[in-house]
Amino acid sequence: MEKLLINGGKRLTGTIKVGGAKNAAVAILPAALLSDSPCVISNLPYIDDVIVISRIMEQLNARVAMIGPGKAVVNATGQIDCKATSDMIKKMRGSIYLLGALLGREGRVEMLLPGGCEIGARPIDQHIKGFEALGASIDISHGTIKAQADKLVGAEIYLDVVSVGATINIMLAAVKAEGMTTIVNAAKEPHVVDVANFLNAMGANVKGAGTDTIRIKGVEKLTGCEYSIIPDQIEAGTYMIAAAATGGDITVKGVIPKHLESVTAKLLEMGMEVIERDDSIRVKGTGRPRKVTIKTLPYPGFPTDLQQPTTSLLSICDGVSIINESVWESRFRHVEELRRMGADIKVEDRIAIIQGVEKLTGASVVATDLRAGVALVIAGLMAEGLTEIENVHFIDRGYERIEEKLAGLGADIRRVADGEAALKVVNSDAVV
Ligand code: EPZ
Repeated sequence: MEKLLINGGKRLTGTIKVGGAKNAAVAILPAALLSDSPCVISNLPYIDDVIVISRIMEQLNARVAMIGPGKAVVNATGQIDCKATSDMIKKMRGSIYLLGALLGREGRVEMLLPGGCEIGARPIDQHIKGFEALGASIDISHGTIKAQADKLVGAEIYLDVVSVGATINIMLAAVKAEGMTTIVNAAKEPHVVDVANFLNAMGANVKGAGTDTIRIKGVEKLTGCEYSIIPDQIEAGTYMIAAAATGGDITVKGVIPKHLESVTAKLLEMGMEVIERDDSIRVKGTGRPRKVTIKTLPYPGFPTDLQQPTTSLLSICDGVSIINESVWESRFRHVEELRRMGADIKVEDRIAIIQGVEKLTGASVVATDLRAGVALVIAGLMAEGLTEIENVHFIDRGYERIEEKLAGLGADIRRVADGEAALKVVNSDAVV
């Protein structure tokens, strides 16, 4: 078990480059199973979720070979196993996309139900509704889901909730179905558009991704392509928040500023300076943030995946801020840890009421999920003294070399093995 040690209070300055989008990568890799020839995928982030999905695909007989930094060839030209029973499936949510990809490719799939961050119930009823509308029969028992179809035929599918996963999974199952599929009330996230663009690069006919109606005209076959994944807007947003939190001055490079409009708007409302260029965003922290009200929503609303780090930033706001988490029902587990650091936050159901305090103080805290972990990193950077974060493996699921990137901006942060961390805490001047 590794930990992160952060000696807070350093102003972060400089330029940072974000990697490829995690939530696009974990869908695009399985999507490549639909191709009858190899696909070259670049700008793949080197994070645990990408490594895990690649390993699962290899166990199914696909070959995922790294041919350069962030560049892989996916070769699924051989016989692919449609029974995915690896325990790794339970480690991550993205494995859900094997369902749509294998159903679309082979007309059948048997898979353990996927896991992922514990942030709510994470139902898959909308995925199932979509697969059934396309003609598949579904059986769930003993923690395994089986889907099977003699033939998939296009259909009109109305999603009862705006779901990223269901939208992508239905696209994967429908690209080779007979006729036209329409997804109504589709998710509009940038990674949904990225997956549609990847499918089209393989020869699919997907129109309307990025709007709430996606039309997919089935094609007979998909062939290999070269494709570069979009930048990760959540990683970018995290570093924007880090700039605001430390009174810093950070330029986040290699981003699509449009994908971050809601974050930019809220940082401006907090009184921060934000300067957008074609492919970069510069954030200058200007002191304690002004109080704001935020409601998380599907894109283009404020992303739930940045709610947790934003809570950390607002813990030192001037006044009372309100955050309404409308996407996930239990995504406030980081709050208890922030309280250990001196934050004054009450949570009532899906609403956090944040009474800003003047400062946070370092403490020993535990990450409970990916973005909770990164929220604690932000808190540690802001806090006076030493913060020790356990369960770093959660952060590694979605952030590549986070401590190296932050150290490059002037943070005093390092990764240590469990025993070493304890020793350092005892010896540190910062601990009183
Ligand atoms: C994706 O999860 C992301 N994960 C999540 O990111 C992200 O928080 C979420 O989208 C929302 O943006 C991946 O892309 C791998 P949803 P997903 O289906 O697809 C309800 C992170 O931190 N719902 O859009 O699982 C559901 O309960 C992770 O990177 C149903 O009711 O999310 C939720 O309230 C965490 N029935 C809402 O929809 C369904 O069948 C949105 O879920 C599906 C979802």
